[in-house]
Amino acid sequence: MMFQDKVILVTGAAGGVGHAVVRSFAAEGARVAVCDLDDGASQTLVGELGAQGFLVSGDVTDPEIGDAMIDAAVDHFGRLDVLVNGAGVIHVGDAQSTSPAQWRHVLAVNLDGAFYMSRAAMPHLIASGGAIVNIGSDFSFVGGEQLVAYCASKGGMLLMTKAMALDHAKQGVRINIVCPTVIDTPMVDSLARQLGNPADEQREIYDASVPTGRMIAPQEVADSVLFLASDKASHITGTSLVIDGGVTAR
Ligand SMILES: NC(=O)c1ccc[n+]([C@@H]2O[C@H](COP(=O)([O-])OP(=O)(O)OC[C@H]3O[C@@H](n4cnc5c(N)ncnc54)[C@H](O)[C@@H]3O)[C@@H](O)[C@H]2O)c1
Repeated sequence: MMFQDKVILVTGAAGGVGHAVVRSFAAEGARVAVCDLDDGASQTLVGELGAQGFLVSGDVTDPEIGDAMIDAAVDHFGRLDVLVNGAGVIHVGDAQSTSPAQWRHVLAVNLDGAFYMSRAAMPHLIASGGAIVNIGSDFSFVGGEQLVAYCASKGGMLLMTKAMALDHAKQGVRINIVCPTVIDTPMVDSLARQLGNPADEQREIYDASVPTGRMIAPQEVADSVLFLASDKASHITGTSLVIDGGVTAR
């Protein structure tokens, strides 16, 4: 098993991608600390994992809570090998329709949260020779209409990944980012609501937007996360793995 005896902390664990990531690590023998704002869904997931799971639910936008969640996971499991920064929110709006509070919220969750969690995890990852995998987006590379805050957050995450990878390479910590196009998760429902479209119509639009003809499945993102976190990626750091069915090949 690829992650036997390893300890993983996943933020956004109760979300569509988070569920697939947590279950995939657990299936490979890992012990997993589950972090999300959604307590109920997190508790259910932890219950499913049995002794391999541990609940550290909390808000990644608060650096003190971030420190406490990392400490709790390390106290419980004795080490930390991998941090997956998956917590994320999306807001539909341009510069005029995005309020300062909406802008701040998206940046706070998607970018600040990933930084605070990475910062808190770093001493433990240095001790274990571990890795961080960030969940970016195709909007880490290209702009998207009506997604100014989201694109800023995911573009920032890409260069944060690269800068941190350089800073910590000699300390043996690898830091990479996966960049999926639209994934079939509850975030698509959030987008449909914000755009005022029925969810099934929104899914058809997104399926048609991908050259392969369908959105990415959460499991396909999890597979790439596990690869980058594993020893099979032992000399890969500071890079992005694009999972987009060809969207950015256009
Ligand atoms: N769904 C997509 O189309 C898509 C495409 C590319 C990238 N992504 C990225 O993938 C990641 C996972 O998204 P998803 O599609 O699974 O969405 P999701 O909405 O299903 O999951 C996101 C999770 O993050 C949690 N969260 C939000 N704010 C938080 C906070 N402050 N602290 C802790 N947890 C918080 C939510 O409770 C939720 O469970 C996100 O970073 C997202 O930006 C999603």
